[in-house]
Amino acid sequence: MLRQETSGETQGVSDVTDVERMAVIGAGAAGLCAAKHLLERGFAVTVFEMGSQVGGLWVYENDNARSPAYLSLRINSEPRATQFHDFPFPEDYPFNPTHFQVHAYLEAYADHFDIRRHIRFNAKVASVEQPTTAPGNEWRIRLADGTEESFDGVVIATGHQGVPSHPPFAKKFGGEYLHSHDYRTPEPFRDKRVLVVGTGNSALDIAADICTVTASTTMTARSPVLIMPRMLFGVPIQRTIAKISKPGVPWAVERRFRELLTYVAHGRVEDWGFVRPKKRTHPASHPTIMGHIAWRRIAVKTAGADDADGNEVHFSDGTVERFDTVIAATGYEIDLPFLSEEMVPVTGRRLDLYKRVAAPGWPGLYFVGFHNVSGGANIRIMDVQADLVAALAKGDVGLPDRSEMIADIERERRRIERRYPDSPRYGLELDPPVYTRDVEEELHPHRSRLRLRRTARYFLRDAANAVYHGRRGSTVDRRLMAKLAATGLAAVGVATIVALPRARRRS
Ligand SMILES: Cc1cc2nc3c(=O)[nH]c(=O)nc-3n(C[C@H](O)[C@H](O)[C@H](O)COP(=O)(O)OP(=O)(O)OC[C@H]3O[C@@H](n4cnc5c(N)ncnc54)[C@H](O)[C@@H]3O)c2cc1C
Ligand SMILES: NC(=O)c1ccc[n+]([C@@H]2O[C@H](COP(=O)([O-])OP(=O)(O)OC[C@H]3O[C@@H](n4cnc5c(N)ncnc54)[C@H](OP(=O)(O)O)[C@@H]3O)[C@@H](O)[C@H]2O)c1
Repeated sequence: MLRQETSGETQGVSDVTDVERMAVIGAGAAGLCAAKHLLERGFAVTVFEMGSQVGGLWVYENDNARSPAYLSLRINSEPRATQFHDFPFPEDYPFNPTHFQVHAYLEAYADHFDIRRHIRFNAKVASVEQPTTAPGNEWRIRLADGTEESFDGVVIATGHQGVPSHPPFAKKFGGEYLHSHDYRTPEPFRDKRVLVVGTGNSALDIAADICTVTASTTMTARSPVLIMPRMLFGVPIQRTIAKISKPGVPWAVERRFRELLTYVAHGRVEDWGFVRPKKRTHPASHPTIMGHIAWRRIAVKTAGADDADGNEVHFSDGTVERFDTVIAATGYEIDLPFLSEEMVPVTGRRLDLYKRVAAPGWPGLYFVGFHNVSGGANIRIMDVQADLVAALAKGDVGLPDRSEMIADIERERRRIERRYPDSPRYGLELDPPVYTRDVEEELHPHRSRLRLRRTARYFLRDAANAVYHGRRGSTVDRRLMAKLAATGLAAVGVATIVALPRARRRS
């Protein structure tokens, strides 16, 4: 393995020379957590951060120009399920901490685990390469200022919400246009007729934020969506949902439960202009939006915004309306400009990675934080991923061969497409309880209890898929099934041999 001499710099260069060197790109939640797990396993770690602070998108007006944080932003996930497993939010934090509090929490995390001295700030990575001329699996990192450095492995933790995805009519709209990424406060929209495109969490937050100062606020809901309340029974609603959101509980049951809770708070979603989803969607929730809609502060259009002409926006239901401002809360693009095309495992909004972290065919290249959770929280899942990445990099856990990894990725792709049909927006979705358990099994493959559970789960999952989707839905692992069938036959054979002589003796 490659060994680097210390360069003598004080900031950001690891002072360890005889352990493997890992680069982490990004010092947001994902990068900090990756660095922490790698340091714990004895790696020499260098974190490259293009901005001047840790915290990524939770840094308001971050000088990396990639943070979408608006002044009123608070986490929408349940805090207990969001915090890193070994570093709780401070006791006095509210149910939904503000972005300032999340930023402070990430700063404290960096200090507590002594990560800061491994970070190089204002260091933008321009390219990550594995030159064929280099020894072993050496990875070469080139910074925007032209300097280069080599590592044994690289963790990409650059986030997937830094580059806005614009609707096709963005350039045709003649009024004021901005993406939610650039929204900060309501005041600039006072007395304006504003269209907020989308019904994701950004759209809900922004529409609720501006609707008390605008002349009118309209939201588009082109796809079915279930907008859940933020709190029920005096606690965050996810705490109640978590009671039944378990790996073994079928999604249909959980969906009905979510609908029931939402119905208790909001009544029929159709009465407010939304279409009730029949399939999974990314969870949306807001503490006040339904009140604003009920008070007619926000109008909901059950249509997509398709085109624009001057200040007029054309909707998919054939109607046309005039607006002063369009705020496109239309999501983000996955953006990995520092990886070569052959290395980038991106297909639309999907990253083809084994267990969401490893790139088949590129040993030493790992990813943390490229997911979107359905329930649960993204930050906690980064902890799970970082643990797996550190174990893989150390060799404490092995990767299967390339064809097995690709088959696993394909199974996962089919599963996501079945669960979230008709929208490429959901390519990064992930079920926290299932994923956490799968990673646990990767990290501790010899625990027979887990093996047994995995076997039982394969049967149950496949039976459920077969009933729900027919043969097409089968995710069966054929080799495992063949092994089980053979074991079953052998067991019947042994039982017959043992039981027959006894039966004969009795007769
Ligand atoms: C508005 C909003 C609200 C959200 N709310 C929640 C929530 O309530 N709960 C939850 O769990 N998740 C939430 N998320 C999801 C979010 O993904 C996570 O919370 C998480 O903080 C993202 O962390 P990250 O480290 O992956 O990315 P980021 O925070 O974006 O950090 C990436 C870092 O990489 C750096 N970087 C990028 N490119 C380079 C480069 N080339 N060279 C060097 N450095 C680079 C950036 O400067 C940045 O600091 C939210 C997302 C958004 C957009
Ligand atoms: N408070 C918080 O914690 C908070 C706040 C904001 C964001 N977030 C998180 O950040 C991530 C990104 O959220 P986001 O809301 O910015 O993006 P998003 O979840 O990708 O949502 C994009 C929305 O825009 C819609 N859309 C796109 N083009 C459209 C068009 N032409 N006409 C009408 N609608 C259109 C999409 O509808 P379709 O479904 O039809 O594609 C969807 O409703 C999510 O994980 C979210 O949970 C969290």
